[in-house]
Amino acid sequence: MNSNKIKEITVNLPNKLSDVIKKIDENGLGIVFVVDNLNKLKGSITDGDIRRFYLKKKKLPKIIKYNSKVLNKKPFALPINSNIQKILKCLEPNSIRNTTTIKCIPLLNKKKIIVDVATKENPRDYPVAQPEIGNKELQNVIKTVKSGWISSKGTYIQIFEKKFSQYLNGGYSVSTTSGTTALQLAISSLGISKGDEIIVPSFTFAGSINSIINSGAKPVIVDIERETWTIDLNQIKKAITEKTKALMIVHIYGQPCKIDEIKKLCKSKKLFLIEDCAEAIGAKYKGRLVGLDGDCSCFSFFANKTITTGEGGMAVFKSKKIAEHAKILRNHGMSLSKNYWHISAGFNYRMTNIQAAIGVAQIERIESLLIKRKKIFINYDKLLKKIDKISLLPSNNWSKNSYWLYTITIGDNKVRDYVVSYLKNLGIDARPSFYPLDLMPPYKKFAKYKCMVSHKIGLNGLSLPSSNISLSEQRYIVKKLILALQNKIN
Ligand SMILES: Cc1ncc(COP(=O)(O)O)c(C=O)c1O
Repeated sequence: MNSNKIKEITVNLPNKLSDVIKKIDENGLGIVFVVDNLNKLKGSITDGDIRRFYLKKKKLPKIIKYNSKVLNKKPFALPINSNIQKILKCLEPNSIRNTTTIKCIPLLNKKKIIVDVATKENPRDYPVAQPEIGNKELQNVIKTVKSGWISSKGTYIQIFEKKFSQYLNGGYSVSTTSGTTALQLAISSLGISKGDEIIVPSFTFAGSINSIINSGAKPVIVDIERETWTIDLNQIKKAITEKTKALMIVHIYGQPCKIDEIKKLCKSKKLFLIEDCAEAIGAKYKGRLVGLDGDCSCFSFFANKTITTGEGGMAVFKSKKIAEHAKILRNHGMSLSKNYWHISAGFNYRMTNIQAAIGVAQIERIESLLIKRKKIFINYDKLLKKIDKISLLPSNNWSKNSYWLYTITIGDNKVRDYVVSYLKNLGIDARPSFYPLDLMPPYKKFAKYKCMVSHKIGLNGLSLPSSNISLSEQRYIVKKLILALQNKIN
């Protein structure tokens, strides 16, 4: 929901006439919509309505109330899920029964609450990703809140962890407060700390490297390969020293790494393997789900992820014993058998029962969430594959993407930045890709080599709205993307 946009065109009543006129003047649309405290649409007032009132020599009171005659109680509005073509058509001159042009249409949810505003320049907002929270999630949360078990004790925690392992078909799941704390818990539970090195790719979200730095270990940044956008095996081999304790591989944008080759290397060099699966739930490597190959695999449930708990994460361990140790570390290092007796200086990385209640409902319907996203990816592929200057996510016959965020590379960095801001102005939330770690001040010193592929993809990449959109909306987004590209190149 774009709350600023909504604020600009709405007023509550009673309100001073002068303030209503001021709002109409400021938004430049000739109209304000009257809403209650929940933003439920109650009516509209236009500058024309006010003018006509005065022309009829009727006096308007200084304070406008709900029963005021100047209020139109049935303003034109559309449901939020209206087809984009229909919205655009309604904004065309004289499209509605030959009356004056409509400059602005409130878009409503089922409860008649304004959730967006359509104008010709910005017909609808398309967030890059949206959580899908349904009735089951809500029921679970209500049950939890009513039970009083709202912190990290309560049945949903264990249920979520069990269901997560069942989904992956193995592993010992330990829920956490975020994907980053899952990674940090993995590092500490594997006994990696100060003086140890962990190899990590430059092209990833900063949470990967921050978890290493904050655990006291030293990150060693290497490049990625063009073929998969994931960590370059040859660079790993060059970066290994006697201090290397682990590889943190990242299935970036849900692209599986070359897991078998990496596992073989870990085995021969006696290194731990940590998989950053924050973006990779549902991705497949050689037909199996990603997330069971490492000593620990870590997932994120941030709101933009395929399944969410608001904030949250899961560390999935190969060893039951290490997972038990992780559960102790997660809870301040407190002994399991003696309350308030601490066996190590642990953390508080505990997920709440409320978050787990949402997680249970989400993991129960992960298949349908994945199917929807896959459809969106296939549509974009078809619409974009033949466009000059655009490269799609690489694909191969041994892996399947997780269909998290549809990401492409486009022209050069200037073109990419222009396209992103052009689309942003239209309300299309195109996101630039992650900046390569080796270009940013806190991490520069950890790079062993120049990470040219990471630069190429990180600086030229962008993600398009990837959830909850129809084919006609995807066509509209691609049309605008191509227009932006042509503007910049010609
Ligand atoms: C690749 C990667 N690693 C780690 C994280 C960190 O997860 P969280 O935001 O839940 O801490 C993210 C989150 O977006 C991510 O994309």
